[in-house]
Amino acid sequence: MAASSRISSPAWLLLAAHCALLLALAGAARGHSPSASAALSTAFYDESCPGAPVRRVIQDARISDPRIPASLIRLHFHDCFVNGCDGSLLLDDDLPAIQTEKHVPANNNSARGFPVVDGIKRALEEACPGIVSCADILALAAEISVELAGGPRWRVLLGRRDGTTTNVQSTNNLPSPFDSLLAKLQEKFGNVNMDNTDLVALQGKLHILNNSYALVQCQFTRHNCSAGQPQGALENLDQVTPTVFDNKYYGNLLHSQAQLPSDQVMLSDPTAPTTTAPVVHRFASNQKDFFTNFVASMIKMGNITPLKGWRDQKELPEGQ
Ligand code: HEM
Ligand SMILES: *[C@@H]1O[C@H](CO)[C@@H](O)[C@H](O)[C@H]1NC(C)=O
Ligand SMILES: *[C@@H]1O[C@H](CO)[C@@H](O)[C@H](O)[C@H]1NC(C)=O
Repeated sequence: MAASSRISSPAWLLLAAHCALLLALAGAARGHSPSASAALSTAFYDESCPGAPVRRVIQDARISDPRIPASLIRLHFHDCFVNGCDGSLLLDDDLPAIQTEKHVPANNNSARGFPVVDGIKRALEEACPGIVSCADILALAAEISVELAGGPRWRVLLGRRDGTTTNVQSTNNLPSPFDSLLAKLQEKFGNVNMDNTDLVALQGKLHILNNSYALVQCQFTRHNCSAGQPQGALENLDQVTPTVFDNKYYGNLLHSQAQLPSDQVMLSDPTAPTTTAPVVHRFASNQKDFFTNFVASMIKMGNITPLKGWRDQKELPEGQ
């Protein structure tokens, strides 16, 4: 059967319009070399899908939900730290083959913005059916969100292939707000080749501006809610300049005003003075330095691929 006849049928379009379905992923990122190590490129869709309508969908969505840019940035992070940036976070349950990553503790009732991702996918399927991968949608959405929030801009590397499996065990690599030992955070970042500077720079994302907000449930904060507050009550991640993407986050750390235990540990851990603390001081005193490093770390994060020995052994034939 010709793939094109499937793509042009309304039923296929309907299915392709969701990143949550494995079927939708099969035709994505067409033209990508089968080699998982093929280099990404900023020009990957220049011919096949120029002027992709991603920005418009995000702009529309944030009118009614100013938290959307923050939520989309976090989805890219939670995709990349688990088995590489393969879009697998978006897959829904299709048991027994696929167990969704959306319901693991780090994501359940916490990761959000999935309908907006599907809205982007739908718009892209109308513009250029079967071309743009869902993993690339997350990378593009993260950059546009940072930009809309007044943060730095960069040219997103594209050409990721969507995964066809989830990896619920590997979600253990998602950092927890209760990781109160710096070594634990460093280990999780190190597992995906991210270093101390990446750790400090990416934590600065908590400042999302222009009437956008990054929120946290009070159960994850250092004060663990106030009396009578339900565990899921939302607070600003940034208590000082909650609507601005800036370097104040690092100043807050210096004043012991970080919301999460995992934030403050970058200064308070016994090993911090020789590892993360100097970077915190640097970024606190120089916003340009922070932005430059934030971009470099976002690009590095977007390049995370499944590393050797990372997947379940049973998924890989002997010797691979
Ligand atoms: C040490 C590593 C990290 C830890 C422990 C951590 C933890 C958290 C927690 C607990 C929340 C609040 C979730 C909720 O209340 O439901 C949150 C929100 C958020 N995180 Fe992280 N995070 C880390 C790194 C990152 C990185 C690397 C990024 C992106 C580059 C990121 C982006 C965000 C954003 C944008 C939000 C706000 C989301 C929203 O309002 O919907 N985080 N993070
Ligand atoms: C996810 O959250 C829902 C609603 O709070 C809860 O009913 C469900 O058990 C949770 N799922 C998992 C896998 O923990
Ligand atoms: C936060 O408080 C709740 C309710 O008092 C408690 O059940 C929970 O264990 C606390 N969380 C932490 C991390 O201490």
